[in-house]
Amino acid sequence: MTAGVIKETAAGERRVALVPQTLSGLKKNGLDVLVESGAGHEAGFDDEAYLSSGARIVTRGEVWGADAVVTVSPVSERHLDQLRSSSVLIGFMRPLDEPRSMAQLAARGVTGLAMELVPRISRAQKMDALSAMASLAGYKAVLMGANMLPRFFPLLTTAAGTVRPATVTVLGAGVAGLQAIATARRLGARVWGYDIREAAREEVKSLGAQFVELDLELDDMQDQGGYAKALMAAKAEQQTRLLVPQLADSDVVITTAQIPGRAAPLLVTQEAVEAMKPGAVIVDLAASTGGNCSLTEPDQIVEHHHVRICGPTNLPAAMAEHASFLYARTVAAMLGEFVREGTFVADFDDEIFSGSCVTHNGEVVHPRVRALLRTL
Ligand code: NAI
Repeated sequence: MTAGVIKETAAGERRVALVPQTLSGLKKNGLDVLVESGAGHEAGFDDEAYLSSGARIVTRGEVWGADAVVTVSPVSERHLDQLRSSSVLIGFMRPLDEPRSMAQLAARGVTGLAMELVPRISRAQKMDALSAMASLAGYKAVLMGANMLPRFFPLLTTAAGTVRPATVTVLGAGVAGLQAIATARRLGARVWGYDIREAAREEVKSLGAQFVELDLELDDMQDQGGYAKALMAAKAEQQTRLLVPQLADSDVVITTAQIPGRAAPLLVTQEAVEAMKPGAVIVDLAASTGGNCSLTEPDQIVEHHHVRICGPTNLPAAMAEHASFLYARTVAAMLGEFVREGTFVADFDDEIFSGSCVTHNGEVVHPRVRALLRTL
């Protein structure tokens, strides 16, 4: 069985889906890895490194013809037709955001495994690409905020005087948020974290940050998958109001709140931005799903009332080497799980497979994607 690695073409994408270090394990599983020439170049992995790890360097056309194609960014609609019927596609696909392209993938006869849909269960941790990428994004968001802030993060005592530490507030304490909290702490800031899930309070505190307590009287906001449930409109409106004093006191705000498959919850309104200190920075990681701040523009820096708001949509690509390394480990784990002695096994009895499989045998098989398609 062949597995092909494409050179990514999405704007700004520097990552690659498999790195040389992951190839020996795949070979043992009976996989022959084909790598498009230059596929790893932007991430720091040249063709020679793949060759000496046992891959074959081939043309783009040959990669599309592989039994399984692995990607990072979703394959664009105009490229879906290049995939061979009955082949397997593994990668990020934005299946809940772009259900129409999933229908196109099904029509092509491709079995599609979406890395976004790998269930967050213990056994699937090594395949959890979303968490791996969110962790990188949380780290990089803090560095970005620190870089844009015209102040120090740590308390600094110098002969010329003492500066107070910066206050960093992280909204949403999931994977990205907790990594942001840990990173801001390491840089010496005073850090606050906030989330609507009760379980997040202890996690925030265990990293040495303080938890923002809001008088919201919420029920249990965590679903069975460990994700948050959406707030009712009245509570959401109350939440944005109650957050204002905390935001007004912050130098850097990192927002990471999400409810999977929905638009990002609004946490920072224009009024809240106007209450913030001049020079403050907001890094909104939810920019690609509408943003947690009402002023966020994807991949832009917006300045409002001397507050800068940035909405980077692909921070992992800015750390392409480690992002590729970690992503490749999750993809290799997926291949390792479902390629058995050189043959791909569509194992619908396995909850990781059934949870992440979007298309199979010409059909969209994932219930949430099917439901979305019915609403179009
Ligand atoms: P996660 O699901 O682990 O964490 C999101 C957190 O938001 C959860 O803890 C949830 O309880 C919380 N939340 C939901 N609604 C809230 C509300 N109203 N108030 C406060 N907290 C609320 O997600 P993860 O993996 O940490 O990703 C976070 C965000 O970062 C997502 O939007 C994701 O798409 C984005 N992301 C962005 C990247 C970039 O480069 N911009 C890269 C990777 C992830």
